[in-house]
Amino acid sequence: MGLVQWSLRSVMAAAMCVLFAVEAGNAAELTAQLPRERINIDKDWRFALGHAQDAKKDFGYGTAAFFFGKAGYGDGPASAKFDDRAWRKLDLPHDWAVELPFDRRASTNHGSHAVGAAFPENSIGWYRKRIFIPESDKGRRIAVEFDGVYRNSTVWFNGHYIGTEHSGYSSFRYDLTDYVLYGKPNLLVVRADASVEEGWFYEGAGIYRHVWLTKTNPLHVAHWGTYVASAVDGANATVTVRTSVDNEDQSAQNFTIEQQIVDAEGHAVADATGPSQSLEAGLSSDYEQSLTIADAKLWSIDTPNLYCLITTIRSGVTPVDRYQTNFGVRTVRWDPATGFWLNGQNIKIKGTNNHQDHAGVGVALPDGLQEYRLRRLKAMGSNAYRTAHHPPTPELLDAADRLGMLVLDENRLMGTTPEIKDQLTGLIRRDRNHPSVVIWSVGNEEWALEGNDMGARFTKLMQDIVRKLDSTRRATVAVSGGLGSLSTTDVAGFNYRGQHDIDGFHRAHPDTPAVMTEEGSTAASRGSYVTDNKAMHIAAYDMPMPPRYSATLQQGWNAVVDRPWMSGMFVWAGFDYRGETTPFGWPAVSSQFGVLDTTGAFKDNAYLVKSWWTDAPMVHILPHWNWPKRIGQTIPVWVYANADEVELFLNGASLGRQQMKPNSHLEWQVAYHPGTLLAKGYRAGREIASDRVDTTGPEKTLTLQADHDAAVSDGNDVTVVAVGALDSEGRHVPTANDDVSFAISGPARIIGVGNGDPASHEADRFVDSFAVVQVGGWQMAPLDPRNASRPLANKAKLKWSNPFQWYPPGTEPPTPPAFVLRGSFAAMKISGKVQRKLFLLQLTERQRVFVAGKDLTNRVMRDDQGLSVPLDGAAPSKGATDVLIVISSDVDTALKALKSIDPNLASVQYRTPASAWKRHLFNGYAQVLVQTTGGTEPATLTAMSPGLIPAQLMLQPVAAR
Ligand code: GAL
Repeated sequence: MGLVQWSLRSVMAAAMCVLFAVEAGNAAELTAQLPRERINIDKDWRFALGHAQDAKKDFGYGTAAFFFGKAGYGDGPASAKFDDRAWRKLDLPHDWAVELPFDRRASTNHGSHAVGAAFPENSIGWYRKRIFIPESDKGRRIAVEFDGVYRNSTVWFNGHYIGTEHSGYSSFRYDLTDYVLYGKPNLLVVRADASVEEGWFYEGAGIYRHVWLTKTNPLHVAHWGTYVASAVDGANATVTVRTSVDNEDQSAQNFTIEQQIVDAEGHAVADATGPSQSLEAGLSSDYEQSLTIADAKLWSIDTPNLYCLITTIRSGVTPVDRYQTNFGVRTVRWDPATGFWLNGQNIKIKGTNNHQDHAGVGVALPDGLQEYRLRRLKAMGSNAYRTAHHPPTPELLDAADRLGMLVLDENRLMGTTPEIKDQLTGLIRRDRNHPSVVIWSVGNEEWALEGNDMGARFTKLMQDIVRKLDSTRRATVAVSGGLGSLSTTDVAGFNYRGQHDIDGFHRAHPDTPAVMTEEGSTAASRGSYVTDNKAMHIAAYDMPMPPRYSATLQQGWNAVVDRPWMSGMFVWAGFDYRGETTPFGWPAVSSQFGVLDTTGAFKDNAYLVKSWWTDAPMVHILPHWNWPKRIGQTIPVWVYANADEVELFLNGASLGRQQMKPNSHLEWQVAYHPGTLLAKGYRAGREIASDRVDTTGPEKTLTLQADHDAAVSDGNDVTVVAVGALDSEGRHVPTANDDVSFAISGPARIIGVGNGDPASHEADRFVDSFAVVQVGGWQMAPLDPRNASRPLANKAKLKWSNPFQWYPPGTEPPTPPAFVLRGSFAAMKISGKVQRKLFLLQLTERQRVFVAGKDLTNRVMRDDQGLSVPLDGAAPSKGATDVLIVISSDVDTALKALKSIDPNLASVQYRTPASAWKRHLFNGYAQVLVQTTGGTEPATLTAMSPGLIPAQLMLQPVAAR
């Protein structure tokens, strides 16, 4: 048995649409005009935690006069003038919740990280980003697009309020054009508030998905402005394209719309040019065109053929916009009597339910990890993915399109208010061109309404919205009980047979197709075979979890197979996820429902499902065979195989050959003796596959294994590395629980570690931690210039006043020959090796800085935004510390500067350097996520553990295309 099943990443089935355009269109024209740019702005953000209840600790946000009263009065970090140099620098995607410690006061449903209502100090995240927009962009429309921010995000731009998005899952966009400063840096600020929970599972916190800057001509394809629907007609496909065009120009515009379809090899296979159109200033309109693809290559699970539609808007001969849409040609049908059909083929849905977090990184998954997760599910034979219970990140759907994974795309909250309808509308408009999406879900287990009239009403009204926006797909709603929602749904979604009379429903509603949206909610810990309540580990056999409603996987799947009308089933769940720690609660921190653990490693249940869902011969034995304390005792041995007979041997002696019924498993009761268990699988009497487990010796050496060979040196690509331990004979030790530490050199970094242990309180990330305290309580006093080197020598005589006081013209106090500014900060209690640094704004070329009475002027460093002073050894670590700024020359300049700068004159950064990355093996396995940082020199990952031979893995990044 291998450590974990690894599949090498094959060459991407279809390259991104953007590559085709250069081949298909006129390359010179494209580079000269660049009519549309979509720029990823994930890199180089500043981040700090604010405070949900104390405005002072929230950097004074919302406390200044006119804050929401007048445009451009954003205060605290929302002000463009705010100095954020003391904040942490980071790249997106980022989830701050996963970096927080575990705490029993936190929500166990959310994985017990110290975030949420009980932790106001950890629940506000501020993000700031400088974006340079050149003069040459004048005249273009400029918008920012967020794939998703958790949650309740407020966006400010150059000090102006832009908007609020409550949902932590919806993608949203703001047009910034009218607020842009050309030829200058512009300041984009996001305040995310994760105080409140949206779901009952781990949800993360922060800008955990990508952010984009889009630049277009004023006449352009609208946001999510294409809708591509295809119909198969013999060997050909008719593609109907609806293009929404916005004219944000000052005058009416004349244009034509050209469509070109390019296949996966980059060949143009169809095109169409529409008639000349005219659109009034400020209006939007839709235009329909039809194209035919001869000999269309269908998109399917096994051959996920993609096409790219290139939409060009031309004003005269000039292209003013070029917009690209990936799509696929396929037919989908949900039949009430026969279930699900793809391209005329009756297919059972072999699905899994999934939330979006992964070991090591929380919800901030780099794109490569989305793909890795889908590959793991496909390796198990799964063909469908339910985005439980919210819109996914768009990059997950891109990966599903490329890899051939069907998707049930789910809305978050049911309702009919404008806000909730907008969220549903956005989901459909954003995702309706993905061939992978085969059905929408308008909601899940809405207990307040699913069983009553309101449920019937909401389901109908929401499905009507879906139908208007997408006539090609049907919708479901996942229900836990009652007939309200089920009475109006298009496709019935049953969560657990134990909660429904599914046969009765089918008899009463013979025209309603149905699918098990959830089933098989069993719990198991990877590699554990004896339930240990203290350790919170559950034996990994396919057992029911009494007194629950869910069937075992085997019962659940057989019920589906036995009913031709049932379209299939989505297992609860594909991957373990943080939170929902059933049945333990605290201190367990993750669920155990997954057939894969949080790292994507197969539990035995994944092999069970695989034995039903795949045909390539396989046999899998459980448990492991290291039981030194149980010699002579009986141990249940289970075998999963897609064979019709299996024979089990212990140390060469047969323990009997048994017939395997389809969609089941086999069991033996075996008296334990160390050695080798061997299982041979037969089909029609012929041996087709086997599996063995050996009693191993103690672990001797560590091993590292990468999921794919060549990481791309683009600063994004992720290599998933499996860590294990081998005995002296090179056998994987399934019981190893060693403490392993990691080091990396070369152009790569570790971004997370995990091991799938649902009870582990080890850190997932080892990054420098930052705390920021503002220097406040500023006062100023005139000074005798002779006292500039001992400013407080005559403290009692100084006359203090508010340095930010506004005086009516003509009443300003006389300019002193010198002055002192005095503020203070409260020392923070932070243990460990802390480095402190004072950041302050510059008032003149020359100014003296005193901290705790010491003249630190000699330590002052300057950058393009201000000054900084390392404080180590200079400031006390307890109580309040005084900061003095003394100005004895250029006094006028300094006073003028003081009036125009942000009151955040100075702040102190506490930086605690990260300790080394480490993680225990859990039942023989841990995972390290490694991301390239650019550069094609080899990188080396080293794993070390006391008493074991270290392991090294060389990663050879390849140049990005
Ligand atoms: C369902 C629910 C899921 C998950 C599951 C656990 O009722 O829809 O989100 O909580 O139970 O078994």
